[in-house]
Amino acid sequence: MHLSAANHRIPLSDGNSIPIIGLGTFSEPQWTPKGVCATSVKVAIDTGYRHIDGAYIYLNEHEVGEAIQEKIAEGKVCREDIFYCGKLWATNHEPEMVRPTLERTLKILQLDYVDLYIIEIPMALKPGDKLYPKDENGKWLYHKSNLCATWEVECHPYFTQPKLLKFCQQHEIVIVAYSPLGTSRNKTWVNLSSPPLLKDELLNSLGKKYNKTAAQVVLRFNIQRGVVVIPKSFNPERIKENFQIFDFSLTEEEMKDIEALNKNIRFVEMLTWSDHPEYPFHDEY
Ligand code: A2P
Repeated sequence: MHLSAANHRIPLSDGNSIPIIGLGTFSEPQWTPKGVCATSVKVAIDTGYRHIDGAYIYLNEHEVGEAIQEKIAEGKVCREDIFYCGKLWATNHEPEMVRPTLERTLKILQLDYVDLYIIEIPMALKPGDKLYPKDENGKWLYHKSNLCATWEVECHPYFTQPKLLKFCQQHEIVIVAYSPLGTSRNKTWVNLSSPPLLKDELLNSLGKKYNKTAAQVVLRFNIQRGVVVIPKSFNPERIKENFQIFDFSLTEEEMKDIEALNKNIRFVEMLTWSDHPEYPFHDEY
């Protein structure tokens, strides 16, 4: 399939399609000045991104919505051009809460539909006003839910997910790779025992060959094998850099060499919830 900056949607088996690169918008609210998210989404849309990955729990969904509205009002895009993915937070897993929670998100976004709505994490927390509920002893308040494993998947050259990818390809399921650049390496939630992905020697030497950065090589690797990527950046230069991946391709041998970097190590392990009865990562995928 030929992917280009202007046309990089890939088909889904229900007849819809998804742009193969999206802008990730998770950032730590306490360290992100107001307005940076909105500006980043606008830069991304101007750059050519048509897929925005957001969530209620990121606490900046209003800025994402504001940016999309502004670009629609400017005539830069229409609603149908944009693919927005929203997420159901863990305190809202009860079936009767799904619809009102989605409706709240639509109101925040000022949109009348989202293109994809996924379960943020496959472990429920106690419903209520607290987004991260704990008891008086600081113990997490878990909640029982009956969840089908409907979930997006971490995926990058250090965690290539060959088995899962093969299964999904056989069943015509498109994978969306979160943390495609190996995360921001914030030690409060990232497993740092794996070396920084973007410092990898092979990825950097391939970057040199194509006059690209390691980040661009990493993103190209995934889109070239049909995996959707949602790199987060709130830096205008890097937002643009991450989109310049349609003007080169890796050889089959280079794709194999990158696959061989796999270390089967997750950056996002969520060990804080490892004793949750539904903790997903005890199982192999
Ligand atoms: P920033 O927002 O300052 O650009 P992931 O998508 O794997 O979670 O990675 C996100 C992290 O990678 C963020 O810290 C982001 O920082 C950084 N980042 C995004 N694009 C690039 C790039 N092209 N080169 C290096 N770091 C990047």
